[in-house]
Amino acid sequence: MTTANESDFKTELEKLLKTNRLGKSIHAFDEQDSTQDYANSLPNIESVHGTIVIARKQKRGKGRMGRSWISPEGGLWMSIIFRPEFSANNIIFTQFMGALAVAEAIMEITDIRCTLKWPNDVMINEKKVCGILVDVNLESKDKVIVMGVGLNANIESSSVNDILTDNSIKATSLKKEYGNDVDLLHLTKAIIDRVEYYYYDLLSTGKTLEMIDLWKKNSDIIGKKGIVYDRDDNVVGKVIDLDKDGSLLMKLEDSSIKKVTFYTNVSFS
Ligand code: BTN
Repeated sequence: MTTANESDFKTELEKLLKTNRLGKSIHAFDEQDSTQDYANSLPNIESVHGTIVIARKQKRGKGRMGRSWISPEGGLWMSIIFRPEFSANNIIFTQFMGALAVAEAIMEITDIRCTLKWPNDVMINEKKVCGILVDVNLESKDKVIVMGVGLNANIESSSVNDILTDNSIKATSLKKEYGNDVDLLHLTKAIIDRVEYYYYDLLSTGKTLEMIDLWKKNSDIIGKKGIVYDRDDNVVGKVIDLDKDGSLLMKLEDSSIKKVTFYTNVSFS
């Protein structure tokens, strides 16, 4: 990170943040196995709404679909804990919220326009720069969502190609696209500010249609061809829209419409 050590980073972030509810408790580490696992394992009393866990590097970063997430120094590896009031149906919007927040923060800091790839990827020039991982426990009375942000920020281009283990997508870093290091402290602040806005102004007030509209404006997915990896069968179709619950609507080769939920694996071309 830009500062000498993680406790400096935490102090500077605390000073910089003007949020009302997020980031009142920050756990910052030089190294962590996975900020996501750490956040998930915090005892209830410490896992309060808005808690942030951030690490300079991760030894065992986790990606979606059980993949690993290579997390060297220079990246932004952060998990945010929410104690949501909304139902399980809204989980996909947590992914939209993370991706939108990251895309806008990148725009603010670097002037680079990102595009969003359903459901949770942030892309620059068709290459993935950030992924969002959402872990959920809405079953017990202590409902919790942990939203992980994995942003390849100041990472050298030589390590970028190894960052994703999913061969269908190419990876990039902000440093590679921007040509310079970015200020991780201000980038982190910009992301947290926007997550707070999306969480309180749209998600918890039920304005999810507004979120879908914003998400679509920042995505070029409509009209793209996609392969849906179903358990029994892989099907090919064209994306025609997002449904009001955030699912993808695809027109298949036999003209039927398939609704694809967020936990399905889809690749686009
Ligand atoms: C994806 O597969 O696209 C999501 C990647 C999410 C990685 C982040 S890095 C911070 C947090 N801690 C983890 O172990 N994973 C998430």
